[in-house]
Amino acid sequence: MKLLLIVGLSFLTNNVIYGDIGQHVLQDKNTPLTKSVAIIGGGASGTSTAFWLSNVFPSDGNIQVVSTIFEKSDYIGGRSITVPIKDDDSLGTIELGASIFVEANKNLMTAAEKFNLELTQLTGVESARPGLGIWDGKELVFEESGSYWDTIKAIWRYGFTPMKFQRKQKEVVEKFFELYDTDYGFKNIAKIVDTLGFKSLFNQSASDYLKKLGINERFSNEILQTATRGNYCQNLNALHGLAVMVSMEASHGTWAVKDGNFRIFEEFAIRSKANVLLNTKVISVSNITEIDSFGNDVRRYAVETEDGIIQVFDEVVLAAPLRFSDIVFSFPTQHYKRDYHTVHVTLVSGHSNPNYFGKNDIEKLPIFIYLLAQNFPDGQAPFETFSVHRILQNGETVVKIFSPNKPEEEQLDQLFLNRTWTYYKEWQAFPQLYPVEDMDFPSFILKANEQDEFGIVYTGSFENFVSTMETQTISGKNAARLLYEKWCSKSVHCKKFGDGWGDY
Ligand SMILES: Cc1cc2nc3c(=O)[nH]c(=O)nc-3n(C[C@H](O)[C@H](O)[C@H](O)COP(=O)(O)OP(=O)(O)OC[C@H]3O[C@@H](n4cnc5c(N)ncnc54)[C@H](O)[C@@H]3O)c2cc1C
Ligand SMILES: *[C@@H]1O[C@H](CO)[C@@H](O)[C@H](O)[C@H]1NC(C)=O
Ligand SMILES: *[C@@H]1O[C@H](CO)[C@@H](O)[C@H](O)[C@H]1NC(C)=O
Ligand SMILES: *[C@@H]1O[C@H](CO)[C@@H](O)[C@H](O)[C@H]1NC(C)=O
Repeated sequence: MKLLLIVGLSFLTNNVIYGDIGQHVLQDKNTPLTKSVAIIGGGASGTSTAFWLSNVFPSDGNIQVVSTIFEKSDYIGGRSITVPIKDDDSLGTIELGASIFVEANKNLMTAAEKFNLELTQLTGVESARPGLGIWDGKELVFEESGSYWDTIKAIWRYGFTPMKFQRKQKEVVEKFFELYDTDYGFKNIAKIVDTLGFKSLFNQSASDYLKKLGINERFSNEILQTATRGNYCQNLNALHGLAVMVSMEASHGTWAVKDGNFRIFEEFAIRSKANVLLNTKVISVSNITEIDSFGNDVRRYAVETEDGIIQVFDEVVLAAPLRFSDIVFSFPTQHYKRDYHTVHVTLVSGHSNPNYFGKNDIEKLPIFIYLLAQNFPDGQAPFETFSVHRILQNGETVVKIFSPNKPEEEQLDQLFLNRTWTYYKEWQAFPQLYPVEDMDFPSFILKANEQDEFGIVYTGSFENFVSTMETQTISGKNAARLLYEKWCSKSVHCKKFGDGWGDY
C-alpha cells in the first residue's frame, strides 16, 4: 500500500514521514502531548465528538487534540439537512431528514441557546385548520380542535390510560437524564440499559410492554402507535419499549432550528476548530504498529481517502452507520450489522385534496394527519403521516409525506388537486429498533481482536438504543469520554471532564 503523508499533517500529528506501513520509531514527544483524531462523518455524532473533545482538552491543557472530520458529502449535518422549497431560496427551506427535537433534549437546547440559533415550532404554520387528525382509511377517528372538548373526548375514548402512560413516561425520561451526569464512559449499550434499569423496555416489543403496564389497547393503537409511526415509521410490535417513550415525548412540544437543525452541527464543527474535509470519503482504515520512545508498541491508524491519500492518526471515531460507511477495515472487526429502516420522504407544494380524507372544505382538514394502519389491507397504510409544513403566500401548502414505499404518481394525484413541486428522498433512516432479549448490541468500541484493550470508537452503536440527533450528541460525548479515559491517567493529568461544555 502506497503511503502519502501530507507534510502539514505530519507536522500536526508529530509524525515521522515514512514510506510503507510497518513498524516505525516515533520521535520523542515533548509535553504537551498531541493526539490526532480522525472523525469519520460530519453529522450530529461526529461534529459533537469534535466539539466535546475541544472543550474537554482546551489549548492550555496537557493534552492537545487535533481532530479531522472526514465527510464524504458536500455539507455538514448528515441526516440533518434542509432543501429550498420549490428549489427557490427565497421561499425558505424545509427539513428533509431529522426535523424536530424536544425540551428534554438538553444538549441541543443548550447548544441552540449558546450559539444564538433561533428556534421555531415544527412547522411555523399559522392556520385556523384543526391541528392533529387520525385517519383510519375511512374516517378521521380523532380530530383536535384546540378546545377543552379535546380532553373530554379523549377521556371518553381512552379512559384514564393517558395519565397512567404519562406517569410512566415521565419516570423513564427522568431516568434517562442520569445519562447526562455519569462520570465514566460507556463501552456498550448493555451497560447503559443496566445502569438505567431499562431492561424491560428492551427485552420485549412495545406492544407487550404496554399491555403489561395495563395501557388500554385502543390508546396504544390509536395514539401511541400513531406517535411511533410519526417518529419511526414503525408499529408497536416492531419496536422496543423505549421507542414509544421517545416518540411520545414530542407531545410535550417540539422545536427546530429556524435556519435548519444542521446549523447546530455546523457550529459544533466550527467551534471545535477541527479540520473539516468535505467531499472526502474514507475508504479504508488500517491499524498499524509504531514504537514509542520507551520501545513500547503503539497502535495507530492509517486512514485512506478516495483520492488515494493516507494519513495516520492516534485514534479513529467512526461517526456514521458502519453498515453504509463503505469502509474496508484491515482487521476483522467484530461487529454486528443491523438492518436499517427505509423511510421515503416526499415533499409536495400545491393544493391538497380534502375529499381524500372525507372533507369537502380544505379549512376542515387537519394540519397533521397520521394514518392508522389497522383498517388498511395487510395492515399497511399507503403512508404514515401527511403534514403541512408551510403555507405559501400564493395559498399553496407545502406538505411532507412519510411513506413505507415511494408514492406512485397516481397516489399523489389523488392526494392533491394540483402540484407545482414534488421532491422525493429515500433514507436509510435508522436501525430497526426491535426488542432484544440478550442485550446483544454493537459495541461503542470496534476492536481488531476481542482481547485488545481498545479499538476504534463507534458512535453509531447508540442508534440501536434509540436514534435521534440528541442521543447522537450524547454518543459523541461518550466517544470523547472514552478517549479521555484512555489518554488521561495519574502521569498524564487532565482537567476534569465535567459536563463536556468546558468554558462554554
Ligand atoms: C427521515 C428522517 C427523519 C428523522 N427525524 C428525526 C427527528 O425528527 N428528530 C431526531 O432527533 N432525529 C431524527 N432522525 C434521526 C437522526 O437524523 C439521526 O439519529 C442522527 O442525525 C444521526 O446522526 P449521526 O451523526 O450519527 O449520523 P449521520 O447524520 O448519518 O452522519 C453520518 C455522516 O457520515 C458521512 N459518511 C458516511 N460514510 C462516510 C465515509 N466513508 N467517509 C466520510 N464520510 C462518511 C455521511 O455522509 C454523514 O454525513 C431522523 C432521520 C431520518 C432519516
Ligand atoms: C425482561 O426484563 C425484566 C426485567 O429484568 C424481567 O422481569 C422480564 O421477565 C424480562 N422479560 C422477558 C420477556 O425476557
Ligand atoms: C492489527 O491488529 C491485529 C489485532 O490486534 C493485530 O494482530 C495485527 O498485528 C495488527 N496489524 C498491524 C499492522 O499492526
Ligand atoms: C389548484 O387548485 C386550487 C384549489 O382547487 C385552485 O384554487 C388553484 O387555482 C389551482 N392551481 C392551479 C395552478 O391549477
